[in-house]
Amino acid sequence: MVTIIVCAILVLVVAGQLNALSKDCIGVGGGGGSGGFDGGSLNFDFYISSCPQAEAIIFSGVQQAMASDPRMAASLLRLHFHDCFVNGCDASVLLDDTPNLVGEKTAGPNLNSLRGFDVVDGIKTELEMACPDTVSCADVLAIAARDSVVLSGGPTWVVEVGRRDGVTASLSMATANIPAPTSDVATLVQKFQNLGLSTKDMVVLSGAHTIGKARCSSFISRLNGGGIADAAADRIFLQSLQQLCAGSNGTLAHLDLATPATFDNQYYVNLLSGEGLLPSDQVLVNGGGEVGSLVQAYAMDPVLFYEDFAVSMVRMGRLAPPPGSEAEVRRCCRVVN
Ligand code: HEM
Repeated sequence: MVTIIVCAILVLVVAGQLNALSKDCIGVGGGGGSGGFDGGSLNFDFYISSCPQAEAIIFSGVQQAMASDPRMAASLLRLHFHDCFVNGCDASVLLDDTPNLVGEKTAGPNLNSLRGFDVVDGIKTELEMACPDTVSCADVLAIAARDSVVLSGGPTWVVEVGRRDGVTASLSMATANIPAPTSDVATLVQKFQNLGLSTKDMVVLSGAHTIGKARCSSFISRLNGGGIADAAADRIFLQSLQQLCAGSNGTLAHLDLATPATFDNQYYVNLLSGEGLLPSDQVLVNGGGEVGSLVQAYAMDPVLFYEDFAVSMVRMGRLAPPPGSEAEVRRCCRVVN
């Protein structure tokens, strides 16, 4: 009900003032061309004639959001990951709870943690004004993730588009599929493998933790001693985290203490010096084998990291719901049409 009211108010707001990025999105019910997922028809020029300005609108929305909140780049990048890991990249993560639908926002990995929903709403509102019923929310997430990386100084890549938005969400899959920060290497590898992604995808995409922040509750296990990553952890670093977190579990720490807002390969350099933040970051150097070698390689070679990161983002962006699942282009990313 709240969603419907928010979206309905937005219709009025947008009708009145078309110039500013609105905080929420327009549209309730109808439109959006429903149908099914066809299991893999992404391409580069899906919107070339139907919405040529789509990429520019999304880029400018991300840019504006970062101007007032630099952390938003990290939050948008993470939204795409949490979307794709649950029934494919179908924008299920954006759906609000309703009496008929339990969304994913209250799942453990998401609750009090995911950010950026209002930024997506604002971008979608602009898109609906420019090209109604055309650009899916799932594509907005994929493009915004790329733009967030670029605007943080990282690599670029061409985003494949043509995703459609799902009409369901899965709280249980969000809980089961998204890896926990206390996971060991075998579990991290397994969670990626379950979706058809490789060990290399896991190690290189973890490099997204070169930007953004985490709450103390996400790495508290290390501070109580006996955490899985502690063999490789730097003692002084751990002490500084202990001090930081003495006040509250909700206090935030930079995932990359050295260059927190720049998308670079410093994340891997930190791991080698025992200064990875999450247990699931620091364990990557304990594993040896392929995982350890990749950490070493990315710490030494930023260009290799950039190239491999871009490739793996495209691979993650191809995760799709089962063919034939019901799908549409949502008008309002928070609610099915
Ligand atoms: C490999 C397994 C992964 C685990 C266990 C993991 C876990 C986490 C946790 C616990 C946080 C902090 C949440 C909080 O305290 O509120 C976080 C933040 C973040 N994660 Fe991951 N993550 C993983 C992979 C990824 C991937 C694949 C991406 C993107 C490609 C990503 C992007 C981010 C970003 C950018 C942030 C910071 C978000 C912000 O500041 O709002 N993570 N992650």
